[in-house]
Formats: sequence, structure tokens, C-alpha cells
Amino acid sequence: MSERTLVLVKPDGVSRGLVGEVISRIERKGLRLVALELRNVARSVAEEHYAEHKDKPFFGDLLEFITSGPLVAAIVEGPRAVAAFRQLAGGTDPVEKATPGTLRGDYALETQFNLVHGSDSVESAERELKLWFPDN
Ligand code: PPS
Repeated sequence: MSERTLVLVKPDGVSRGLVGEVISRIERKGLRLVALELRNVARSVAEEHYAEHKDKPFFGDLLEFITSGPLVAAIVEGPRAVAAFRQLAGGTDPVEKATPGTLRGDYALETQFNLVHGSDSVESAERELKLWFPDN
């Protein structure tokens, strides 16, 4: 049973030249890229994407960051793709939660600049993919 998930290489990952590393790990895991695009995110899309966090104290910073420069948005497919990419990414806090060997564990230091986003459930993936890739 194949599944799809939304992956973002956030602006920190793009500016640091880590897009290839993220894609390489996705492919080595056995997941498949269905779509891949470098884009600048409209604030309205960012607000909708992170809507569940709108009351969190970090919401403003998160929006500023995610719209601060180009990011890479991808549709990634494979068996248990949602959980499989979350495993590759590691925990949200790159020091306290992500372990070495994961993308965040290996390449990030701060929660805000944690390199990648992956949908956190199949339901979130469906919602996010409709938002980011309405034609797919
Ligand atoms: S929470 O509070 O547990 O629901 O939040 P969490 O799931 O850990 O994080 C949700 C997304 O918000 C980002 N985040 C932050 N951004 C900026 N500053 C701070 N302090 C901060 N804390 C969390 C975090 O990276 C998550 O982004 P995504 O893109 O979903 O990984």
C-alpha cells in the first residue's frame, strides 16, 4: 500500500545547500519523488499550512522564516511514506529530540531552523498536498 507525504526543504536547507542531501536520503530509503519544485511561499499559504499552530507563541517567527526565501516542496511516495520520512527527519528539536543519523540530528541546531518539514499523519498529508500541489 503506497502513501504520499509532503516534504519541504525549508529556506535554511536551501540556503545552506542541503537540498541534494535531503533528496539523496529520501531516495536511498526507497521512497519515490512524485513532484519537486523550488518556490517562494505566499504568506497566505504558509498561514494555512501552519494553521493549527496559529495560537502558539512562535507562530509569527515561523511564518517569517518559512517565507524568508525559496524552499523546496516535494511529493514523496512509498509504503508508509509519512512515517518513513518522519524517521529520516528526526524529532522537531534537532538537539533534544533528533538523534544523530537523522537529517535534523546531523544538520540542525535550532528548532526554528530544523531544515525539513514532513506531514505528521496521513490526514495531514492529504490536507497539505491539496494546499501545496492542488493539481496532483
Ligand atoms: S507543538 O507546539 O508541539 O505543536 O509544535 P511542534 O509540532 O513541535 O512544531 C510545529 C512546527 O513549528 C515549528 N516550531 C517553531 N518554529 C519557530 N520557533 C519555535 N520556537 C518553534 N517551535 C516549533 C516546528 O519546526 C514545526 O514545524 P514543522 O515544519 O511542522 O516541522
